[in-house]
Formats: sequence, structure tokens, C-alpha cells
Amino acid sequence: MTDNDMMIQQVTEMRSELAQIANAPADAPRGPSGRFYTDPAYFDYKRKTVLRRNWHCVGRADELANVGDYRAIQLLDEPLIVVRDTDRIKVLSNVCRHRGMPLVKDTGNAKRFVCSYHAWTYGTDGALLRAARMKNASFDVKSCRLPEIVSQQRFGFVYVCLDSTPPDLDKALAGLETVIGHYQPERFRIVHTATEIWKTNWKCLVENFMEGYHLSVVHPETLHGYTPTGLSKKGPSGDGFTSYFAKYPQGIESRGQGAPDLDDDERSRSSLFSVFPCQVASVAASLLVSLSIRPLKVDEIEVTWTMSTFGDELDGDTIEKRISLWEEVNREDREKLELMQTALSSVHATGGPLAGADYEGTVFDFLAWQARQDMAPEPATRGA
Ligand code: FES
Ligand SMILES: [Fe+2]
Repeated sequence: MTDNDMMIQQVTEMRSELAQIANAPADAPRGPSGRFYTDPAYFDYKRKTVLRRNWHCVGRADELANVGDYRAIQLLDEPLIVVRDTDRIKVLSNVCRHRGMPLVKDTGNAKRFVCSYHAWTYGTDGALLRAARMKNASFDVKSCRLPEIVSQQRFGFVYVCLDSTPPDLDKALAGLETVIGHYQPERFRIVHTATEIWKTNWKCLVENFMEGYHLSVVHPETLHGYTPTGLSKKGPSGDGFTSYFAKYPQGIESRGQGAPDLDDDERSRSSLFSVFPCQVASVAASLLVSLSIRPLKVDEIEVTWTMSTFGDELDGDTIEKRISLWEEVNREDREKLELMQTALSSVHATGGPLAGADYEGTVFDFLAWQARQDMAPEPATRGA
């Protein structure tokens, strides 16, 4: 058997395991074996299929407030520029059309993108404006431009899909409005952003963020007082998302009024949601935290997290305290996930039973979504 045959057999076995998990009886949910989080060949398969052909959150629209504001990111194998052009936010390839040099890094504001290698110059709409000394008769400056990657905005987030035939985003998010719509997430304004490298598999962070089972154990000082495990409640799920509610104990100090349409229930909980495959977020009356996960290797991710606030209810001191709190919460989760990653390669990491729907029903939703993705046609057969 060749290496390639073994890889195909292994991926086939894992697809079959995932299908069994998705079809397990409702009272016997379980997680997958450790190799789902540690096998480089399986990661490579997911990178080329599920990850490439779905929508990824690349930040908040208001991060790029002025024309020319840009942010460079690497999503899977693609260097991208997210930029506010004159009419809207666009996502462009960050690869010079001449010899492939990245055009920009980090964040900034520019009227034009000038390549650092031979000075080809592009507009913020991607059009090539100038290519010095390129007199070849066959080369037409006007027909050369940076490819634009499909992007859309929902709830104030910018989503991008690397596949030229993306899935229907409205279909994927149908039902999410009922979970977070009253918070009016598009009105939140960004107050903090940070990027970190975590040594964990991308799915481990999605699952970790989306289950309330660990809250009181892993976050006794930071979250337990406000969102104890025992008050976790499963929320709606849809074609491409899941949710749960982390409710606050009665009598606890208010966390703000937020949007006018919120009812008492919505004000007395954090509503956590994941837009599959790689965004996890928590919205409360006056605070919105979102993590965009960019898988780098089977055991490594780049995470950009943003914090946004509603109106001017929170003063500067309170915002600083909330940022510190979330830094600590993220540190607590990261420590657990990086430790777990060291054990998941074990032959004894066979996948254990999941807790009930209120605690780990979201993990089941994510696994079922992955199983549905496995049934989708491969990009090669979809003309991508
Ligand atoms: S690689 Fe960009 S101008 Fe040559
Ligand atoms: Fe956590």
C-alpha cells in the first residue's frame, strides 16, 4: 500500500467515524477519537476542503472605518488584504501580480499599494495603476488587477470565502438572527483587538468556547460568578451555526442595558454562538467578544479576538477591566487546550461520551455539521 493509499484509507475511516457520531442516538452522544485533532493528513484534507470552501470571519467592519484602512491576514494558504475601498470593504489577494511578493503587512491606511520589489502600484480596488518600464507589447496594465475574494457582511462582521463558488451565507446563518438580533450586533463598536498563536487544533478551540460544561471548573475566579456551568442552556442551531446561553445568577449586578429591543432574559445572559467553521463569539447587552480562528497546522492556530461595546454605557476603566478579564479567560482556556493537545495522539484517546444538550449539545452540532460537510461534493467536482 502506498502512502497515498494509506492516507485515503485513513480519511475514509475517519469520515465513517464522524458519520456514526452524527447518527448516534440522541441520548448517547460522543466525541471523536484523538486523531481527528492530531492527524496531519486529515488536517491537510480538511484544509483543502471544508476550511477552504466555507465562510471565515476576518474581523469587524468598523475596524476599517476610513477609506484606505487595511488589514493583512493569512487565511490558510492565502495572503489577503481586507481594505475599505471607496464604496465598500473588499478582500483582495495580497500577492503581487508580477512575481508574487506580498504587498502589505499588518494594518495601516494607504491610497495605493506599492510593491516593495519592483514598485508595481495598485489602487485600493485592486486595479494595477502603474508598472514601470513594462513595455512588452503583450502586457496590458489595464487588464491586470489583484483578484478580489468573495466577501459579505453580517451583524457587523466581515466574512470571506476562498472558494469561488461559496455556500449560501444566508442559508448557513438562517435562525441566528433570533439568537443575537435583539442585541443589534452591527451597532457595537470595536475597543480592542489582539492576535495570538495557540498550540492547539482549531476544532478544540471551537468546541471549548462553545460548551458551558467547563466554565465553573476552568474559570472559577473569572467566569463562574457570572456564568456558572449549572445555568448553561442550549440555544438554537442552524445549517451553519450553533449557540448556547450562559445565564447569570439571579440578583447579580446588571451588565448594562444595551439595545432597546432586549428583553430581561437576553439582558441576564451571554449568548454564545459559533459560525462554522472558525468563528466563536459571545454577545451580551453591552459587550461583544469574537474570536476568528485561522488554522496554521494540525496543532497550531492563529487567533484574532476583538472586543466591541454597545453605545457609551461602559466607561474607560470598565472597558480596561473587561479586556483584562477576557485576557485571563483566554489564558485559562489556552492552558487547558495546549495541555490536552499533548495527549490526543494517544491510542487511548478514543473519544468519550458527551454531556447533555445544555452542556455539550453545541459540540454535537459542530460534529454533525462536519459530517454534513463530508457528504458535500469535493471542490474539484464543483468547478472551484
Ligand atoms: S514582485 Fe511586485 S513588482 Fe515585482
Ligand atoms: Fe473557557
